[in-house]
Amino acid sequence: MPKIGDIQLPDFPLLLAPMEDVSDPPFRALCKEQGADVVYTEFISSEGLIRDAAKSVMKLDIYEKERPVGIQIFGANLDSMLQSVEIVEKSGPDIIDINFGCPVKKVVSKGAGAGILKDIDLMVSLTKAMVEHTKLPITVKTRLGWDSDSIKIVEVAERLQDVGCKAISIHGRTRVQMYKGEADWRPIAEVKNNQRMHIPVFGNGDVDTPEMAMKMRDEYGLDGAMIGRASIGYPWFFKEVKHYFKTGTHAAPPTMEERVQAARRHLQMAIDWKGEQLGVFETRRHYTNYFKGIPNFKEYRMKMVTSDHSVDVFEAFDEVMEKFGDFEFVS
Ligand SMILES: Cc1cc2nc3c(=O)[nH]c(=O)nc-3n(C[C@H](O)[C@H](O)[C@H](O)COP(=O)(O)O)c2cc1C
Repeated sequence: MPKIGDIQLPDFPLLLAPMEDVSDPPFRALCKEQGADVVYTEFISSEGLIRDAAKSVMKLDIYEKERPVGIQIFGANLDSMLQSVEIVEKSGPDIIDINFGCPVKKVVSKGAGAGILKDIDLMVSLTKAMVEHTKLPITVKTRLGWDSDSIKIVEVAERLQDVGCKAISIHGRTRVQMYKGEADWRPIAEVKNNQRMHIPVFGNGDVDTPEMAMKMRDEYGLDGAMIGRASIGYPWFFKEVKHYFKTGTHAAPPTMEERVQAARRHLQMAIDWKGEQLGVFETRRHYTNYFKGIPNFKEYRMKMVTSDHSVDVFEAFDEVMEKFGDFEFVS
């Protein structure tokens, strides 16, 4: 069974992917309750952290109940990354993850995120320096390469392992692809099949059904699956994958009551964490998925996503329960 440093994980662990403005403490806690084995924060700017930018620092918050949790940071400057490691350590995460995969222009143009895929030597030396700077396990999340002509992920992964990286999560797309096309898991399997690899190799990209997760395990032989978009507004995804692995059948989808309860708790945790205004605002993106598939739902959804006060959103949840309480979801 895979281990990240000393952290023992179950067979084929499911990891909640780092997602900006999504994987915050309330959402991570919900995913953890529903079976996520490791959760990651969204990426946090090393430059923001060392300037003590309030927005970056707030992202360091973690709840005890979500462990093991990894804090993900990004940057391309060695000093800033090392200083960030020291700042991050104070929040007590179990893992520090380096983002070498973000494809967004404003990150890449500074040589950070996937930008570093153009300079593998720097990627390796930065990882090495970070490993040497902390006792916490350092993990890396990256993509296949910069573009389809420069996929060297087998060699890159081995070099990262050799400088002390404790696990690698690979999104099966190149930077140039951004989110287009289908994720290609074959190069990730090649990384895993490299006889010299002994750290866990986690696959990422397009796992949106239990069958896809099973394929990643059985056909591609990877050590675990990192799940992003399929979990947004649907933390039950982790539990459903595990149920499928265990029984070969699909779990019944969550009832309306479970959905309303999860949405309520999500909003309340977000308010407790970030305050009324931000809590209301940042939970909005989840509602569409929480209540996906209900006919004639627009009026209620609009109320959830446009109300500025939690009292109105909570009221919308009550109305939904009253009107659609008997609605049967199909998986
Ligand atoms: C809204 C959103 C925000 C994301 N933010 C991050 C991030 O902060 N760090 C990171 O490494 N990847 C980030 N990603 C990429 C995901 O972690 C993941 O690699 C990608 O979505 C593919 O996995 P999926 O098909 O399971 O969603 C983000 C993706 C989405 C959709």
